[in-house]
Amino acid sequence: EQVPADSESALRFETITGSGADRVTVPKGYQAQVLLSWGKALFPEVPDLDLQHLETLLTPKGADLQAKRFGYNCDFNGFFPLFQQNSSRRGLLATNHEFTSEELIFSGWPGNDNPERANFVRKFPAMVAAMKAAHGVSIAEVIKRDGQWHLAQNSSFNRRITGETPMELTGPAAGHDLLQTAADPSGKKVLGTLNNCAGGKTPWGTLLTCEENFDQYFGNLEGLESLATEESPNQAKLKKYAALHGRLSPPRELSPRGWELVDKRFDIAENPTEALRFGWVVEIDPYHPKSTPKKRTALGRFKHEGANMMVGPEGQVTVYSGDDTQFEYIYKFVSAEAYDPNNRAHNLTLLDKGTLYVARFKENGSGEWLPLVFGRNPLNKDHGFASQAEVLINTRRAADLLGATPMDRPEDIEVSPVNSKIYVALTNNILRGLELETLNGRQIVGAVDGANPRGPNKMGHILEMAEDSDDPTALTFSWEVFILCGNPADPAAKFLTSLTASSVVGPQDTYFGGYASAAKISPLASPDNLAFDQVGNLWIATDGETHGLNLAEPINNGLYAVPTAGKERGRVRQFLSGPKGCEVCGPEFTPDNRTLFVNIQHPGEGGTLSQRLSDWPEGHGQPPRPSVIVVTKTDGGKIGG
Ligand code: FEO
Ligand code: CA
Ligand code: CA
Ligand code: CA
Repeated sequence: EQVPADSESALRFETITGSGADRVTVPKGYQAQVLLSWGKALFPEVPDLDLQHLETLLTPKGADLQAKRFGYNCDFNGFFPLFQQNSSRRGLLATNHEFTSEELIFSGWPGNDNPERANFVRKFPAMVAAMKAAHGVSIAEVIKRDGQWHLAQNSSFNRRITGETPMELTGPAAGHDLLQTAADPSGKKVLGTLNNCAGGKTPWGTLLTCEENFDQYFGNLEGLESLATEESPNQAKLKKYAALHGRLSPPRELSPRGWELVDKRFDIAENPTEALRFGWVVEIDPYHPKSTPKKRTALGRFKHEGANMMVGPEGQVTVYSGDDTQFEYIYKFVSAEAYDPNNRAHNLTLLDKGTLYVARFKENGSGEWLPLVFGRNPLNKDHGFASQAEVLINTRRAADLLGATPMDRPEDIEVSPVNSKIYVALTNNILRGLELETLNGRQIVGAVDGANPRGPNKMGHILEMAEDSDDPTALTFSWEVFILCGNPADPAAKFLTSLTASSVVGPQDTYFGGYASAAKISPLASPDNLAFDQVGNLWIATDGETHGLNLAEPINNGLYAVPTAGKERGRVRQFLSGPKGCEVCGPEFTPDNRTLFVNIQHPGEGGTLSQRLSDWPEGHGQPPRPSVIVVTKTDGGKIGG
């Protein structure tokens, strides 16, 4: 129904009903257009991918072509205006390509956990290069003309960054022994970025793209561990490498895609330090297509989901980043020097010097940021750290020692442009509430706490944090649970209208910022990417199982919007539903809020190329294609308003 305009932030779109259909659904008065799909040529000299002949990706020239086409599994979107500071009609769209879904690309692919995949990779070794080329980032000039968005294929800004693009390691860990390899004795030159999930933009117009589950591309940890048991002059070193990898747990044997069978860079026994050159935040200047992407080591090494920024009162920049794994942590980096709106060259050095902190949540609704600084007890030689570089390379271990609070899979963290509060999507954690002792070789207590109050947490929640005095450089903060996702109408659960850190919460119980009309709220599960519109409404994209919602008909992932203030605070309503098997991600508004870019990632997941669950967006039984879609209002108005 229509929502009355009772505040600036009122959302007036007509709520859609969750859907299991294999299509994109948007509210009445809105339209969705496919802008860029996997395989779309970003350069005029290259043909688009022929969906009838995906086997061309198994041939030696498959990789060269894929390296000039839009990649697979788009996640983050960043819109960078062109020629006019706030242009909403022409800009560069930077899109992450998180991973490849081989089972949806190659009909003979045995599966990522089937031992037969080794034979497939050996039979078609060219697939490894093609799949590396489908990872990374696309930068594409896009233009709005006659109400429709178009790719500018001739643009000199267009760029593909892949799993092979030369990059530079910068900051305190660059050049460290642990980042040196046989191929790169400098420890500063890396090929490629992998598993780029979410990201962020800087006020100086660069992209921060985040390396998340990079460990899955490396195989044969077991080989390294067995070398480390043999007496040799290198034994101490090899043991150290093995212990370092252990905290992120890459595959002990064959990796899911088997790249290490073809490219020894991904064989941990042969190249024990290569994986340490991944897990960073990468800064890319989209306005300079020849610029070298920089892996900023000062921001720490872990499974970075995203990286969003707030500028402090003295000009220092703070970057918030979650480590998306069960019982991992929330971090922030504060730059040593100040942002200068008139000095871009200076701003491009800001992320190399500063302090990384990790969050500890207290039960009284307060919290503190603990600095990860070498030399401050316990981050010293007694605990295995010899330098700041080692603290940054082994960030998780340093955070363990400091007593950071293990969270329910921190995904996107976004700062409200209206109230400066910080919103954290904690996507889910089915292990929460279990009595755990160790997990991946690390001691862990699985009990619920105020900031992670549900066990098991099947449907996730959203935290609202406020830095003390709204100063992003503060060492203390306050927090509350904003939303406990789920189905507010679930008869088997309580719909809570108040929630404190000491509330006892059942696994299906829900809470929506105190909003009291359950019937006016849309059910949602597994919040992942977040975005704000210009009036401060929070937009939530979902990625996860929706079975826990206990709905009569299962629904696909979607996009939801919720006011964070006013009478409608907490009233979550569904705006978009994605096709089957997809996650919805990368919501990004143009500055005028009249265009919303959204990604449909891995449509058809759960099926295979031969047993297709989805044929979106082409229909007619075609292979599914991860794509960026553009949502506009038919009357040209602001999205949501
Ligand atoms: Fe790639 Fe944390 O989602
Ligand atoms: Ca994500
Ligand atoms: Ca975001
Ligand atoms: Ca996710």
